[in-house]
Amino acid sequence: MELINKQLEKLIYENVKNIFNIDSDIEIQSSNKKGFGDFATNFAMVNSKTLGKNPREIAQTFIDNFSENDIIEKLEIAGPGFINIFLKSKFINSEFKKIGKEDYDFSFLDNGKKTIIDYSSPNIAKRMHIGHLRSTIIGDSIKRIMKFTGFEILADNHIGDWGTQFGKLIVGYDRWLDQKNYEEDPIEELERIYVKFSEESKNDPELESIAREELRKLQSGDERNNRLWHEFIDISLKEYDKIYKRLNITFDLYNGESFYNDMMPDILDILVSRKIAVEDQDALVVFFDEDTKLHPCIVQKKDGSFLYSTSDLATIKYRREVLHIDKAIYITDERQQDHFRQVFKIAEILGDGFDYEKVHVWFGIMRFKDGIFSTRLGNIIKLNDLLDEAKKEVRKTIEIKNPGIPDDEKEKISEIVGIGAIKYFDLSQNRTSPVIFEWEKVLSFEGNTGPYLQYTYARIMSVFRKLNGENIGYNEESEIILESDIERDLSLMLLNFPNIVVKAGETYRPNLIADYLFETAKTFSTFYNQKHIANETDLALRNSRITLASKTAHVLKAGLDLLGIKTVDRM
Ligand code: ARG
Repeated sequence: MELINKQLEKLIYENVKNIFNIDSDIEIQSSNKKGFGDFATNFAMVNSKTLGKNPREIAQTFIDNFSENDIIEKLEIAGPGFINIFLKSKFINSEFKKIGKEDYDFSFLDNGKKTIIDYSSPNIAKRMHIGHLRSTIIGDSIKRIMKFTGFEILADNHIGDWGTQFGKLIVGYDRWLDQKNYEEDPIEELERIYVKFSEESKNDPELESIAREELRKLQSGDERNNRLWHEFIDISLKEYDKIYKRLNITFDLYNGESFYNDMMPDILDILVSRKIAVEDQDALVVFFDEDTKLHPCIVQKKDGSFLYSTSDLATIKYRREVLHIDKAIYITDERQQDHFRQVFKIAEILGDGFDYEKVHVWFGIMRFKDGIFSTRLGNIIKLNDLLDEAKKEVRKTIEIKNPGIPDDEKEKISEIVGIGAIKYFDLSQNRTSPVIFEWEKVLSFEGNTGPYLQYTYARIMSVFRKLNGENIGYNEESEIILESDIERDLSLMLLNFPNIVVKAGETYRPNLIADYLFETAKTFSTFYNQKHIANETDLALRNSRITLASKTAHVLKAGLDLLGIKTVDRM
């Protein structure tokens, strides 16, 4: 189905062309003030200069000459020259019936681009900090939103599986490994020996050079060190996978940093031969023009080792050359902004093969208010604890609200709602602001929270359960009767869903969807409290309201799905 905004855009465009003989870009806004129409356009103001008339005059001429059609009921001038648009009820009805039946037409988007999304990307045998959890949740949502709007997406987990930490881990492994712990809880043991290394090397600086030697051996193909390296990676991936499974998150690729090792020398050759990188104090460095305000970027250290930026340049080349992508989206916390600015700039200078669309979608740092998890959470296993805690708390609420549900179902519901609560809390934040994690705000069944939305959905399902299949006369094709403001508001709101999804996709801001779902749930609650649904005695009205409830459920479910959140039928 074609988005209503787009239909209006076309209709207004055609009429403007006929009446004024100009090609004008038309912008359509939803209006949210009562009595000001369903939509509005400002084209009369925008074209005032071109047409040499004042906007209200243009608007009046437009209204007087606008041709009769099936979409628009009437037009009105507002303020300095806005035109408010009122839709025909019949049109709303016919569009409304398509919700959940027809796919949305997103062909107006630039969605032919094959896009890679680089997210989650934890560092092996190191703490998977809360930033990685955020990257995972936000990345997954952006992937869902873009797929929904027609993009071909590759989800790539760019694991940090290379670098100096491996030399240290090998030294720690040789000296301090507790075999029993390693068997029982390998990742915790790896973490312990890594921390131990940092502590010990403070008193014994020689350890650092031993670690460097182990790293050198690893890099030059030493068999034992390579075996250990693989072992550490396997252990870590297994742990991450538990979290991914629980969060219902999947990747198409796990091309970690080490995947690009062999391609790095080639990158350096290109940088040097084209004089983009120059030698500086025995290192290879890219200096930028002053107007870029970028710090110089080291691409090879004086000991010959490559850097994070070098591996990202190799990654950029590979993705284009081998995966044929047109666009790359990187999701990390705000601290990597300079890194990506430098890397993108170098790619731009390199040009062909490197120079395609890239976006760094960064997010603010999350902190823990009550301190409970602030020190323990960082670690991968403790992320599981975080999810367990959410589940446990939800379970308590369900025991109170709905004690009659069988135990195993309660268990399933708590898992879904608990995880949904954490995801929703993350995604409903303004992406670029700092966030404070507060359990009360995460788990509340009221307000802008995951549980509230899931509860709204479950409430609609309970309406359907009460109908017990005796849907006299009701089917999905029932006419909706836009008898009252609340019914009209709710219908238009539901029809606005795809438009919100487009905006969320264009700005990489899932919180726009969260805000929209919250408004929709609130509007539904008002409707639910004001009107009889199943108990309505007027059959036509009853069927209309059941249809409204059913389409609300459909949109809530589809919207939550874009946030990676599942629904339950009762809770
Ligand atoms: N592993 C990195 C970190 O934890 C994130 C990687 C992001 N992706 C990339 N292509 N650089 O900081």
